[in-house]
Amino acid sequence: MARRSTRNNILLFQITLAQYAILLLYSLTTSNAQDRATPMFVFGDSLFDTGMTLFNGVEGAGAEFWPYGESYFLRPAGRYSDGRVIPDFLAHYAGLPFLRPYLLPGLDDYTQGVNFASASACVLVETRPGTINLAEQLYYFELMVQRLKEQVGESEANRLLSTAVYLFNVGGNDYFSLFEENRRDLPLSQRLKDHSMDQILGNLTTHIYTIYHHGGRKFAFVNVGSIGCMPAMKFMLHHNGACAEEPQELVKVHNAAFASLANRLQYRLPGFKYIIYDMFSSVHNRVLYGYRYGFKESEVACCGSGPFNGGFSCQKQEHSFSVCSNPNDYLWFDAGHTTEKANEQFAKEMWGGGPDIVAPYNLQTFMAMK
Ligand SMILES: *[C@@H]1O[C@H](CO)[C@@H](O)[C@H](O)[C@H]1NC(C)=O
Repeated sequence: MARRSTRNNILLFQITLAQYAILLLYSLTTSNAQDRATPMFVFGDSLFDTGMTLFNGVEGAGAEFWPYGESYFLRPAGRYSDGRVIPDFLAHYAGLPFLRPYLLPGLDDYTQGVNFASASACVLVETRPGTINLAEQLYYFELMVQRLKEQVGESEANRLLSTAVYLFNVGGNDYFSLFEENRRDLPLSQRLKDHSMDQILGNLTTHIYTIYHHGGRKFAFVNVGSIGCMPAMKFMLHHNGACAEEPQELVKVHNAAFASLANRLQYRLPGFKYIIYDMFSSVHNRVLYGYRYGFKESEVACCGSGPFNGGFSCQKQEHSFSVCSNPNDYLWFDAGHTTEKANEQFAKEMWGGGPDIVAPYNLQTFMAMK
């Protein structure tokens, strides 16, 4: 009698233990699913590129030589800066690992997001042939969506795609190129400006719709930066002041038009949500008042040649170029790209800044929204 009861007790104990283990396991896996960081899919140009361009097959196109990467990675890391770029910081704040470039060989886990951004990318496909423009990035995105569905199943893929944040920084190269192509024929005609802007905004709309149709709902946009203050623009236009007026004015008009487009989409597309980080003002303020942000030099680039080091010769083996010894003193690392120190400041503002710089919410609040 006693023996039987002991055996029953042991049996009972084993059952409860097994149930407990199952429960524990279940609660662990479900809480993991709930606590998992929101995935981030990144699109855009060299300011957001984390190595994509290295795999585009064009040598020298992808920040692959010294001095790129020297401050943080201690080697070139496919980033157009001395260290990390904005998405590196944002991913970190969001509890994600570095977002790897979609073309990285062997990459096949997309559940935390991936980076499609590539140096030189434009919205308009004719502008810079041979680059991974925004249309091509969207093409890769659609391939990824298919793979993701095969890997994790339709419903989990849909859950990931609808909770993800889609981070964009694009358009600066389109406007830069417009000035480059017409630099002997300035000012640009109103007709050309209107036409270009319509096409850029039209194509951006198309791509946003594509992501929306795959379930994407949360978009975080960086507006077009102060391209008139870029050392490369000033070098090209032989401008000597802090910022060239004409590109600044055009980009301002674009940014205002884009903000009202995003606002309209919110009414047209149920569930569509967005934020815009005002990169334009952030860069502009740092060019004008660098010392307030800890920059001793906010006009001349750390690396390059010619006036403002605005010649795009940095890293090009066949050119001679100079490199500063302390990139932390500089806003610009090369003729068109900011230093890691500046990138961290931009990322901090976008992540946690007030409505004067990122609206209607900052990225931290936005990511936590359902
Ligand atoms: C997209 O850009 C192309 C030029 O690259 C243009 O022909 C087309 O009209 C644009 N699409 C939209 C919807 O604006």
